[in-house]
Amino acid sequence: MSEVGSLKPEEDAFGQKLWAAYKENQVFEIVERDDGYIDAMSLKGYFSGYEDWQFEQKAMKFVKGRVLDIGCGAGRHSLYLQNEGFDVLGIDISPLAIKVCKLRGLRKTKVISIEEVKFQPDSFDTIIMMGNNFGLFGNFKKARRLLKRFHNMTSENALIIAVTRDPYKTDNPAHLEYHKLNKEKDRMGGQVKIRSRFRKYVGRWFDYLMVSKEEMKEILRATGWKVKQFIDTEDAQYVAIIEKDKLIVSRKRK
Ligand SMILES: C[S@@+](CC[C@H](N)C(=O)[O-])C[C@H]1O[C@@H](n2cnc3c(N)ncnc32)[C@H](O)[C@@H]1O
Repeated sequence: MSEVGSLKPEEDAFGQKLWAAYKENQVFEIVERDDGYIDAMSLKGYFSGYEDWQFEQKAMKFVKGRVLDIGCGAGRHSLYLQNEGFDVLGIDISPLAIKVCKLRGLRKTKVISIEEVKFQPDSFDTIIMMGNNFGLFGNFKKARRLLKRFHNMTSENALIIAVTRDPYKTDNPAHLEYHKLNKEKDRMGGQVKIRSRFRKYVGRWFDYLMVSKEEMKEILRATGWKVKQFIDTEDAQYVAIIEKDKLIVSRKRK
């Protein structure tokens, strides 16, 4: 999963999980980290609706205009916004995820990686990266490169609404050790190298980036974006409402 190039069917482990959840009510997601740590999570959340949400309800209130949903999964946010009358494009690297979105009624979709996202200037007013998808920025450098690109393809008052987790808010020794090793390798502490597994399907290894609020501000610095507001949750997860930094734009114009 991730980076450039379309997924081969045997690599679309995440899509296979969504497909199984959609068709057979298969509900577990297995994620493998490169230190061997295995996590199993319920897939139910990917099919949840507005009434099931808490912090996401608050986040959706900020959405305006034309929306790009990056890594839309089974399309829960795109479908909600489409039903509310927004013009939404859901994109995902997984062909099967996009198939599920279409079957669930999402009208505008595209199989594409975040790496390949390139649209004309002023194409969107809101970019959403839900379900921890700030992580799709992968690493510090790539995040800054993509943020600058997103600046160009969005309108003057555009917002990015992105969810992540503060990786350091944990007392799990395996995670704390992983952050330490990452930093020794000159990676961000929460830059987790993971892959998705499902039955015989094995996803590609990719970096998923979890950041603290301070790290997020550092990533955004001088990209043309800044944090407008954070929405906290009961645990380490939080939403960042990110707006254009007008100061940077006006300085650039001079
Ligand atoms: C954690 S899920 C979140 C799904 C959805 N946003 C939600 O909240 O229900 C991550 C999604 O990102 C997609 N994805 C992973 N790597 C990607 C990439 N490089 N470009 C675009 N989408 C990607 C996965 O296929 C998956 O659907």
